[in-house]
Amino acid sequence: MLAIQVLHGPNLNLLGKREPEIYGQQTLDAINQMLTEEARQLEVAIEFFQSNHEGALVDQIQTTLGRVQGILINPGAYTHTSVAIRDALAAVAVPTVEVHLSNIHQREPFRHHSYIAPVAVGQICGFGAESYRLGLQALVSHLQSS
Ligand code: DQA
Repeated sequence: MLAIQVLHGPNLNLLGKREPEIYGQQTLDAINQMLTEEARQLEVAIEFFQSNHEGALVDQIQTTLGRVQGILINPGAYTHTSVAIRDALAAVAVPTVEVHLSNIHQREPFRHHSYIAPVAVGQICGFGAESYRLGLQALVSHLQSS
């Protein structure tokens, strides 16, 4: 059975309370439950990790080597700043799909650039919590066809 690691970056633990007009009303727990159900239907195993700390995310990415077949990541603000997270993803070379709740390309210019996109299979953004579900489907489809 394929195993997927879901990684949530900084401030995503505040979903539901955090700028709901941008990020929606759903909590992170609700999103993880929705993904658990989607994973069950897709017949893949799924694990979740959230951290507000760049190094903790790098450590968790390093643990994926030989343990999971795919990574679904919302790097939060680290999307726009973190060479370390990008390098960790490139180092383990585990196929990765990048997701965002908001459409980062429609927002402030500093959000338009992603350090992660060049090392990801692809990016899905702008669909709220649905971005995660679409991202999981895209990742599993990619893994099953490669
Ligand atoms: C985000 C977009 C980022 O620009 C922001 O810093 C976040 C959330 C999103 O899911 O829309 O924390 O990744």
